[in-house]
Amino acid sequence: MIVSGSRSQSLAAALARELEQPLAAVEYDRFPDGELLASVPGFSASSADRAVIVASTVSSDAHLEVLQLQDAVREAGAEEVVTVLPYMGYGRQDEAFEAGQPISSRAVARAISTGADRVLTVNPHEKSVCGFFEPAATAVDAAGRLADPLPDDLTDPVFLSPDAGAIDLAETVRDAYGDGTGETDYFEKTRLSGEEVEISPSDTVVEGRDVVVTDDIIATGSTMSEAVAILHERGVDRVFVTCVHPLLTANAFTKLSRAGVEAIYGTDTIEGPASVVSVAPALATALETNY
Ligand code: R5P
Repeated sequence: MIVSGSRSQSLAAALARELEQPLAAVEYDRFPDGELLASVPGFSASSADRAVIVASTVSSDAHLEVLQLQDAVREAGAEEVVTVLPYMGYGRQDEAFEAGQPISSRAVARAISTGADRVLTVNPHEKSVCGFFEPAATAVDAAGRLADPLPDDLTDPVFLSPDAGAIDLAETVRDAYGDGTGETDYFEKTRLSGEEVEISPSDTVVEGRDVVVTDDIIATGSTMSEAVAILHERGVDRVFVTCVHPLLTANAFTKLSRAGVEAIYGTDTIEGPASVVSVAPALATALETNY
């Protein structure tokens, strides 16, 4: 039985359809003091012995909700609890960057592991975070699907990543688009603060060409809008922005639209205005392959 977190309802429903498994009734309540109460009245040991919780941990509340859903299905008799984190929050703090800092992804992974027999996550920021779970999590790669919504008439396309760390994603999108022959490249990025980045362009000629810029996450949109601005300064034709996790916090969507992007495509690991690609088929394959 598929059990949805409150922020992943559409994806959980799509996964249930994909796997032809029932979708549990779930309630998300809050006590007057603000404490959460996520419950699964539709789950019982007679209705299912395996619960697949699907919940992107996009906030502190969402983290708590996962722990409650795991506990609720276990209490109701689930023999096996699979936890799917389409987007793993706190994944970017995967090391103590300064003295005294926590390794936040390890801390949340440890907590989530206590209620899980198996964990899956989609394109984590660094694959190494999978090792923080016990048992180790499976990283599902859904990046190839980002080529699906791209128009099929791209002019001499360049598949670009805004920093070296995301070049694999740009290559995956290139491979999945058309005959898989487009050029790939990356910019260099220096992060100045949470909202400020400095992008150094590469030598690739983009004048008169269409460019697809791919990253794993778009959060504030600073990285992407800087990259898009440089591309326009250099005479690019159209710019399409794609990402696995369209967090799009605050004014990110507007920032990118004003920077002159043709379209913003993301997946439903984060449900919002850019979530045009579903990771449900990739998750279904991963779940079925290993059972
Ligand atoms: C960081 O290295 C990630 O890959 C993304 O580039 C980053 O999270 C994007 O953040 P923002 O949209 O706030 O610039």
